[in-house]
Amino acid sequence: MTPIPSLAPHERILAALDVPDLASALGLVAQLRDHVGGFKVGLELCTAVGVPQVVQAVAAAGGAVFLDLKLSDIPNTVAGAVRSVCALGPAVRMLTLHCHGGAAMLRAAVETARAAGGQRPLLLGVTVMTSLDEAALRDELDVSVGLTDHVVHMARMAQACGVDGVVASPHEVAAIRAVCGPNLLIVTPGVRPAWASSGDQRRVMRPAEALRVGSDYLVIGRPLTAPPAEVGGPAAAAIRIATEVRASRGATTGGRTPPTSA
Ligand code: C5P
Repeated sequence: MTPIPSLAPHERILAALDVPDLASALGLVAQLRDHVGGFKVGLELCTAVGVPQVVQAVAAAGGAVFLDLKLSDIPNTVAGAVRSVCALGPAVRMLTLHCHGGAAMLRAAVETARAAGGQRPLLLGVTVMTSLDEAALRDELDVSVGLTDHVVHMARMAQACGVDGVVASPHEVAAIRAVCGPNLLIVTPGVRPAWASSGDQRRVMRPAEALRVGSDYLVIGRPLTAPPAEVGGPAAAAIRIATEVRASRGATTGGRTPPTSA
């Protein structure tokens, strides 16, 4: 893997396009593309519009795509899906898959992506959904270790399988870094500027703090797509977040040089 130069704060922001139709998505891309590093497109938009169509349209509008499909199936099926995503070309910079699919599935995805050659997407393992708390892990999923220990276990297992990074809560980043080291990419949702409402996110962290503890990329949805009136529109919100991160001493990158797929 080739190290890339440290990213500017705005390049570390991935705007979540949690909208049901392409017109709304493209409206946000037009407003935000110069102020963020890329766009997370997930199941809602992809199911409504179709994965190739969304990728093509966002790329044509000038946005890099974080394809949040959270793949989880038997290894052969996931490998096929990864092959199909790789065939969509370099617009797809990141692709998610669930760590709970297991090591064989993760390895199949990694091998398939590597075999695809060219500028393949970075593969990110989703550790534990932030919508699950420790009680749900224990009582519903019968996981007896604590939440953070389980997240770190998933991250280490995924790293051993060759994934490029993981998705986790910012509150788990320090523990993951301590075990997985500096080269594993960590992408964190659950990020909120002081001026934005938490919404349904329970354990949020400020953007500057999330970067300081070791996140590489911040997935931010509603604070960008529906900012408070006093902040302005999506572009103003993105600029404000990047400015706040820059102003927060030492919070921009922590000197990290995240890996690329090249
Ligand atoms: O609007 P908000 O900033 O809360 O959006 C966060 C985005 O990150 C949403 O697209 C949500 O689905 C996603 N996400 C999350 N927690 C995870 C994984 C993804 O909030 N563990």
